[in-house]
Amino acid sequence: MKTHRKNELARIELVLNGVKRSGTCEPRTLLSDFLRHELGATGTHVGCEHGVCGACTVRIDGVASRSCLSLAVQAEGRAIDTVEGLNNGAAKPGHDGLSDLQEAFRRNHALQCGFCTAGILMSCADYLARRPDPTEHEVREMLSGHLCRCTGYTNIVKAVLETAAERLGRPNGAALAPDEPGHAGVGPAEQALLPSA
Ligand code: FES
Ligand code: FES
Repeated sequence: MKTHRKNELARIELVLNGVKRSGTCEPRTLLSDFLRHELGATGTHVGCEHGVCGACTVRIDGVASRSCLSLAVQAEGRAIDTVEGLNNGAAKPGHDGLSDLQEAFRRNHALQCGFCTAGILMSCADYLARRPDPTEHEVREMLSGHLCRCTGYTNIVKAVLETAAERLGRPNGAALAPDEPGHAGVGPAEQALLPSA
């Protein structure tokens, strides 16, 4: 790894959404700020800047990561994916260039106000790549890494399960029995809130 003096500008070269990009910044610059202010990838949002809310999530070499917890200099030579590149190679004809995951978010009104959506999408994209057939409980557990003031996680869960079901060729993930992978009905969290019979 290159070393940088305190007040010297660092030149960073990386691959952003499949395209070689470069820019300069102070060695202390966060990756989130570098992406937004130097490379213009403003789809990545910044909420807490403390690694808590998940709004700034991007993929670094394919793995979902908080860009507010990385320095831009640590991204030297790495592949960074942001929400702007989420549709790369995944868009279906006639679907506005969106990926299947983004389409499912739109169908299920899972966008919410939109501030946290980009980071949530990046986590979900990474998760579905590693866990193609998750249960509702697992999706909720994964989403617990995102703190969002809109709070309505239910439609996001539905969108993720629907995407998984579609990719696996299932007609409707919501129609599955509660314990089956891909089920989108009442999960353990909701069951705890229901009045007992
Ligand atoms: S802005 Fe990075 S986790 Fe909140
Ligand atoms: S989407 Fe998180 S605050 Fe609205």
